Amino acid sequence: MSDPDATSRVALVTGGSRGIGRAVCLELARRGHPVAVNYATRADAAEEVVAEIEEMGGKAMAVGADVADEDQVTEMFDAVAEGLGQVAVLVNNAGINRDNLLLRMPTEDFDAVIATNLRSAYLCTKAALRSMLRARWGRVICMASVAGVAGNPGQANYAASKAGLIGFAKTVAKEVGSRGITVNVIAPGFIETDMTDALSDDVKAASLQAVALGRFGRPEEVAALAGFLASEEASYITGQVVMVDGGLAI
Ligand code: NAI
Repeated sequence: MSDPDATSRVALVTGGSRGIGRAVCLELARRGHPVAVNYATRADAAEEVVAEIEEMGGKAMAVGADVADEDQVTEMFDAVAEGLGQVAVLVNNAGINRDNLLLRMPTEDFDAVIATNLRSAYLCTKAALRSMLRARWGRVICMASVAGVAGNPGQANYAASKAGLIGFAKTVAKEVGSRGITVNVIAPGFIETDMTDALSDDVKAASLQAVALGRFGRPEEVAALAGFLASEEASYITGQVVMVDGGLAI
C-alpha cells in the first residue's frame, strides 16, 4: 500500500487538526508522506495528530495559520519548508459554514465563508505551485461538497464557495497539467464530524432519507480517496470532482 516515493513527498493539510482533515493527515502518513498539520486555533489538537503520526513511525509537524490570511499563509509555507521540506501534496481542506437562508444572511457571513473556503485555496495553491513546478510533480486536492455541485437551501455562501473551488481546480488543472501536477476535488456528502454534529436531529433525519447507503460517512472514507489521489497510481486523473456521499447526489 505504501508508495515508495511518498516518503520524500511532503504533504500539507489545511484544517488538519480534526474531522476530515485529521483523517486525511493520518491516511497520508500511513502511506509514508511527511505531513504538516495546519490548524487555525487548536494547537493542542494538531499536536495530538502529530503525536499519532510519530507513534506510527511517521514524520509530522503542526503549523498554525489562518489560511484566509495571505501573510500567515506565506509564513506557514516557509515554516513547512524549513521543518519538513517543500510541499508536494496540498490538501485544501479547511472550511467553515455559516448557514442561513439568503434573505437572512449577514454579508459578513457570506464574506467569511468565501474567505475561509475559497480564498484560502487560492492563497495556498499559489504558494504550493512554485515548488511543485520546479519539481515537475505535485498533487492539489480541494475539499468541496455535494452542496457545491447540487446547491443546498440555507447554504448560498457555502455552496458558492464550494462551487468556486470546483471552477478553480479545473482551471489550475489545465494551467499546470503539462508539468506533472494534478488538481482534483473531493465532494463529500454527510460525514460524521463536528460540522454535521451541529445539525438539528430533524435535519439529520431528513438528510439520511436521501442517502442511498442509509448512513452518514466516516472521515476515513473521505481520507481514503485523498490518499489515492495523492499517490502515483492517480497520475492520469486531473480536474475531476469525485463524490464521496453514499449516493446522496444520485
Ligand atoms: P470541521 O469543522 O470538523 O473541521 C474544519 C477544519 O478547518 C478545522 O480543523 C478548523 O480548525 C479548520 N479551519 C477553519 N477555518 C480555518 C482557517 N481560517 N484557517 C485554518 N484552518 C481553519 O469540519 P469537517 O467536517 O472536518 O470539514 C472538512 C472539510 O470538508 C471542510 O472544507 C468542509 O466544508 C468539507 N465538507 C464536510 C462535510 C461533512 O459532512 N462533514 C461535507 C462536505 C464537505
